[in-house]
Order: sequence, then C-alpha cells, then structure tokens
Amino acid sequence: MPLRWKPGPPLPQLLLLLGPLGPFSPRAPAGLAQADDAAELDFSTERPVHLVSPAFLSFTIDANLATDPRFLTFLGSTKLRTLARGLSPAYLRFGGTKTDFLIFDPKKEPTFEERSYWQSQVNQDMCESGSIPSDIEKRLQLEWPFQEQLLLREQYQKKFNNSTYSRSSVDMLYTFANCSGLDLIFGLNALLRTADLQWNSSNAQLLLDYCSSKNYNISWELGNEPNSFRKKAGIFIDGLQLGEDFVKLHKLLAKSTFKTVNLYGPDIGQPRGKTVKMLTSFLKAGGEVIDSVTWHQWLDKLGLSARMGIEVVMRQVLFGAGNYHLVDQNFEPLPDYWLSLLFKKLVGTNVLRASVKGPDSRKLRVYLHCTNINHPRYKEGDLTLYALNLHNVTKRLQLPYHLFDKQVDKYLVKPLGPDGLLSKSVQLNGQTLKMVDDHTLPALTEKPLRPGSTLGLPAFSYGFFVIRNAKVTACL
Ligand SMILES: *[C@@H]1O[C@H](CO)[C@@H](O)[C@H](O)[C@H]1NC(C)=O
Ligand SMILES: *[C@@H]1O[C@H](CO)[C@@H](O)[C@H](O)[C@H]1NC(C)=O
Ligand SMILES: *[C@@H]1O[C@H](CO)[C@@H](O)[C@H](O)[C@H]1NC(C)=O
Ligand SMILES: *[C@@H]1O[C@H](CO)[C@@H](O)[C@H](O)[C@H]1NC(C)=O
Repeated sequence: MPLRWKPGPPLPQLLLLLGPLGPFSPRAPAGLAQADDAAELDFSTERPVHLVSPAFLSFTIDANLATDPRFLTFLGSTKLRTLARGLSPAYLRFGGTKTDFLIFDPKKEPTFEERSYWQSQVNQDMCESGSIPSDIEKRLQLEWPFQEQLLLREQYQKKFNNSTYSRSSVDMLYTFANCSGLDLIFGLNALLRTADLQWNSSNAQLLLDYCSSKNYNISWELGNEPNSFRKKAGIFIDGLQLGEDFVKLHKLLAKSTFKTVNLYGPDIGQPRGKTVKMLTSFLKAGGEVIDSVTWHQWLDKLGLSARMGIEVVMRQVLFGAGNYHLVDQNFEPLPDYWLSLLFKKLVGTNVLRASVKGPDSRKLRVYLHCTNINHPRYKEGDLTLYALNLHNVTKRLQLPYHLFDKQVDKYLVKPLGPDGLLSKSVQLNGQTLKMVDDHTLPALTEKPLRPGSTLGLPAFSYGFFVIRNAKVTACL
C-alpha cells in the first residue's frame, strides 16, 4: 500500500517482520518424498516490478538486551560479529517494547563484564582485536537462561520496569554494528513525557550529545508501537502529538552533527482500524520530517514484501530473548540464519514477477529477482528464483520454455536429522552448514543442474535457483 500524504513519490517503507523466514516451523511432520508432475512456471521479466534496498533483509537486536547491560557484552563475541558481517549490507535496529523503558545515564559506570571486554582490546583497530574474555563469556551464557526468563515474564505480564544504560553500553552497541558493517538504527524512549504529555527530550539530548562527541553515525526512531502505549504504560498519545514529537526530534538532530542522518517512524503495529487513523494524523503533523514510514506485521513472506514494494524488511531478531532468533545463545547459527545468508548472497534488488501455473500455487511459493551480481559467479542478466515447498511431498518446477536450455545452479536447503522441521541444523545441497571457525563462514556451494532439468523441491524445503546467462533485459 503506497502511503502518500503530499504530492511526490511515496515514502520508502520499512517493515518489521516478526515471524520466521523459512518453513522450519513446528506445524507439520515431514512427509515421505514422492514426486508428481512438474508444475510450470510463468515469468514476467520485461521490467522490474520494484526495486528494493540492498539492505532489504535487515534485522533487530531487541532493546531488552540492555535491561541488564552486562549482557550487552555478548556483542563483543567474534563469532556473533562474523555471523552479522555475513548479512551486511543491512540495518541493525536496536528496538522493541523496551525502547520506551530505557534511560541513558552518562554518569553510570560500565559493568565489570563491559570493563573486562574493553581492557581486552589491546589493538588499535577495534574491529580486529580481542573478543570477550572466555571465562566471562561462559559465565554470561550460564546466566542468560535466567535473564531470558525474566525478560519473557516482563513481556507476558506487560509490566515493564525502567532500566538505565551507560556510555559503555552505547559504545558496545555501536562497535558491534560498525565492526559488522551494519547501519545502526536506535530507538529513543518516547514515554518520557512532560506533565502536558509532550515528549520530554532532555534524555535524548544527552544521548545525542554523547554520540556526536564520538562521531557515531546513527539513524533514529522515536518509540516502539506507540499505538499500544495505553496497554504498556497507561497513557494515550494520539497521532498528532506523536507527529509533533517527531518534529521536535528532527529539530534536535538538525542542531547536532546528525544533520544528514535518517529519522524513521512511527513504528506502529499493523496499520488497520484505529491504527490507520493514528498513522494519518501522525503523517499530517510529522510526515515532513521522517525519511521512511515504519510499521510492524506478522507475516512470513519476504518475497511478498518485495513484491508489495516494501523497501526494507527488518527481521526479528539476530540474537536475544524470545522466538525466531537467527543465532542461539551459544552463537550457533539457526536454520533461518542460513536462509538469510543465502538470500543476501544470491538475491538482487530488482524484483520481477513469477507464478506457478495450476492449482499448486498456495503451497508452492515462488519469487523472482535479478541475481545479486556481487556474487563472483554471476553476472548481469542472471535470474534468481526462490521457492518454498509447503507440501508434504516433493514438487518439481519447470522453467518457462525460453529458459529451458539455461544452466541452473541449485541451492537447496533442508532441515537435518530426526527432529525434522524442529531441527537446529540444515543441509545445503546435502552438506551440513556450519561455521569453519569463529572468523569464517562456510562456502555456500552450488549444485549445477543439467540444462533442461526440472527443479526438484522436497517436502518442506526452500530452494534458490540461479538461472545463468538468462540475459534478461530488466537485469542488465
Ligand atoms: C500429506 O498431507 C495430506 C493432507 O494434507 C495427508 O492426507 C497425507 O497423509 C500427508 N502425507 C504424508 C506422507 O504425510
Ligand atoms: C524533563 O525530564 C528531565 C529529567 O527527568 C527533568 O529534569 C525536566 O524537569 C523534565 N522537563 C519537563 C518540562 O518536564
Ligand atoms: C566505523 O568503521 C570504519 C571501518 O569499518 C572506521 O573507519 C570508522 O572509523 C568507524 N567509525 C567509528 C565512529 O568508529
Ligand atoms: C551515515 O550512515 C548512512 C546510512 O545509514 C549513510 O547513508 C551516510 O552516508 C553515513 N554518513 C556518514 C557521514 O558516514
């Protein structure tokens, strides 16, 4: 839905995606593989439907990680940074409900864990030097399940306590983003209010001053899901007030060294009913000062978002408490991480149209982009098809006639082992994916198919198919 409130092009749209990417959900048992007739594909490649950002697939670190700032030390993990770097270019959004319960305290001392981390940085180059001292990392990992319980309880009871964070916490977060090649988006607390319910910007000013002094390049948001402030904090802020608050923040940014950075908002829940009214009055008051409209949804369709013209999708969450992580508490990548990585490496920014002919289309989902030509093996004009088989039997796809003789590289992702769909590991083309070491991601090796082959997708699998030398004009 193109959002317009003034003449000119619609604002770019950022979406916060909360569900998992892949088919690895606990919904259905893995079925026996059984092939049937190939389904024919229909491509429309004359011109791109949309252009998405190179950071289309982006992700979040939940602000609740700062509830006890000792756990921010996790962001010093070499392994976590290697995994994050694999997904660059991307935005790293530091946000979530806790955004509106965090207060910056520039006088607060770093925690023992943070101090130990900074002391281990002997090198001049922050990004190359040490990791978390291993005894501290182990202890934090042991304590994490209890912290996670506490965070989930807060969330479940919708009773949130304020927490303070220090300059060291900001450094930790910024260093993680910068060393991983990610653009940080920081959510400011919008629940700090004056007696007449205007936003009290004094705490934000302290944080902006600190970040300016360190030359940190950060983009900003104000508040998280302000449409549910009543539920979370017992106050109601209407769209008009929120718009005025954004104008105030924009003025603060303009006065600081942050003149050129981006401001995103209003980060409301899925726009419908009352929320649409809130969005409309927000845009009236604050539409001039934001660079992208943001909202949240529960939706598990990356490809669909790209087709709808959404420019960036923020995947929840890289790491932390709650569901749908990309990486677990031991910094081991989960199946959705590998899917995200393949997506980054193979899928380009030009979105094309593809569909499955016949009755299979609901459970057999296909999306088509130009190939990401940063991949050394591919060049302009190549196509990347990605397909999801939600059937409990193998399905085969047949390329359109004019692409029939092209060479195709297959990247097929399947859950591994007796746990089926609940599996924590996956295979790519029959090889189990795992990190080579803390600094190195594995090669993502293609399997070239014979020209003319059908594209096989086993039950509940996810496949990327690069059609080489397709010479599609829209991709040149
Ligand atoms: C596949 O699903 C259908 C219904 O959706 C069911 O009848 C059938 O038993 C399932 N087959 C297997 C092998 O799980
Ligand atoms: C804003 O918050 C600061 C810090 O809590 C406080 O000192 C100040 O009085 C507040 N300003 C207004 C107008 O409420
Ligand atoms: C961010 O990283 C780049 C190199 O990756 C470095 O040149 C730059 O100084 C860093 N910026 C800050 C503010 O640390
Ligand atoms: C700051 O980051 C944004 C991306 O979020 C980038 O477009 C901009 O060029 C950066 N500014 C500086 C001064 O590095």
